[in-house]
Amino acid sequence: MTLTSSLSKVTATPVTPNIGAVIDGIDLTDSSPDNIAAIYQLLLEHGVLFFRNSMLEPEQHKALAKGFGKPSIFPLFELLVKPGSEPEFLTDIVDAHDDPPKADIWHTDVTWVAEPPKLAILQAVDVPESGGDTLWADLHAAYETLSPPMQDFFDGLVVTHRVSEVILDAARRGGEKLASMLLEKFPPVQHPLIRTHPETGRKALFVADEFMIAIDGMHEDESQMWLDWLRDYINNPNFHVRWSWTQGDLAIWDERRTNHRALSNHYPSYRHMRRCTVAGDKPYFKD
Ligand SMILES: [Fe+2]
Repeated sequence: MTLTSSLSKVTATPVTPNIGAVIDGIDLTDSSPDNIAAIYQLLLEHGVLFFRNSMLEPEQHKALAKGFGKPSIFPLFELLVKPGSEPEFLTDIVDAHDDPPKADIWHTDVTWVAEPPKLAILQAVDVPESGGDTLWADLHAAYETLSPPMQDFFDGLVVTHRVSEVILDAARRGGEKLASMLLEKFPPVQHPLIRTHPETGRKALFVADEFMIAIDGMHEDESQMWLDWLRDYINNPNFHVRWSWTQGDLAIWDERRTNHRALSNHYPSYRHMRRCTVAGDKPYFKD
């Protein structure tokens, strides 16, 4: 696809038929409304956008995020902000020998809050020689591939999400009090299993592995069986796009449409990524 904005000639080259496109012709340091609107339109269409040779400075990264809305602060960091100081929303994700990767599991970011982020922006600052790819699953394709009786069964179901043990462990490293505060401030939340995208109207299978604890109203064994089935179902590579990072690559993804998983096979090699998310709305189901 080629579109011409008032600013530049933009090309989007799909990586798979369902999801993911490499974008050329966009200046990511330009946060003008026209430029942001062009990027956002491509994001709604392709779900995950890849930009090569796009190393942004931290301030440029933040400016780009602010173009899409209010940056969101990771809940744990929100609790650590000292009164009167500005919370930092840009996060360095550093994998090192003494700090192994922690996101090698399918998830959508921070679904354990009432209003999870709508999009994320990830910059590859320093990458290993090989490994450490990221996978995204297209949850629209996952829903649309289900048979009509299965869609009918899932439509309207509600899932309880809560903070994971990995995140609670991170909080405990700051003291038991911090972990208790996290649980108190962010109790379990209910989200629809099928989520309607607020802008495209398409439905997505809203799954988030370790954050999902039960399907509401089901007996425990029934709930567990379906949650296991859903985890297994989105493992189908036909739903996925996979990206092998080169230093300077930048990805933007729509959290309302995707699951992602950061492979850990580069460990113990060093890797440095920088990311932030932009605040979203309460997920809902609309038939
Ligand atoms: Fe993530």
